[in-house]
Amino acid sequence: MASYLQIADDEKGHELDLFCIPRHYENDLDKVIIPHGLIMDRTERLARDIIQDMGGHHIVALCVLKGGYKFFADLLDYIKALNQNSDKSVPLTVDFIRVKSYCNDKSTNSVKVIGGDELSNLRGKNVLIVEDIVETGRTMQTLLSLLSECHPKMVKVVSLLVKRTPRSSGYRPDYIGFEVPDAFLVGYALDYNEYFRDLSHICILNDRAKEKYKV
Ligand code: IMP
Ligand code: MG
Repeated sequence: MASYLQIADDEKGHELDLFCIPRHYENDLDKVIIPHGLIMDRTERLARDIIQDMGGHHIVALCVLKGGYKFFADLLDYIKALNQNSDKSVPLTVDFIRVKSYCNDKSTNSVKVIGGDELSNLRGKNVLIVEDIVETGRTMQTLLSLLSECHPKMVKVVSLLVKRTPRSSGYRPDYIGFEVPDAFLVGYALDYNEYFRDLSHICILNDRAKEKYKV
């Protein structure tokens, strides 16, 4: 079982005033729950774990857009650093896929692939899927079943966050950064109707903001 850093349900988080938050989001957030620095430190270790397991062969890192882009970029920087500072190194190439499953703060039943690279290029490859957050697990299960039709050699999934929720299907990624409470989180590329990707820390959205940015 993957190990992870657990953020408890009664975690109080940190006051917004202690960090730099964009002015335009100041009234929209409850607390900082995972500061950017902690995200980076945990990501560094995930890179090491992944290279230890998958580092024998060429890795294709598949970024699940849009929410995964920050984590993807930072994780790959750490993997690159390992590659350029040790005797062993593996080529790393990148692919992108775009999926959409959310409207407002609710997961919809349909998971749509709405663009990106041809998955058929992944035949025979060692693929690392990089995702921002697993909630019900439906997005990842859909993606994994699509991918299996293309016959990759190996598929591993790394998700920065996994939500503790009764809505979970039971699916767990191979690598997990943090397990988080059942709240709607934004920042570090996680969005609410496209807002808050331009916020460095992972924060809890307040109810007023859910109304304000509703579509
Ligand atoms: P799942 O299919 O229910 O596992 O949901 C996964 C997708 O929903 C993620 O890739 C996110 O894009 C989105 N999502 C789930 N929870 C949150 C959240 O708390 N904040 C932002 N996006 C979320
Ligand atoms: Mg996502």
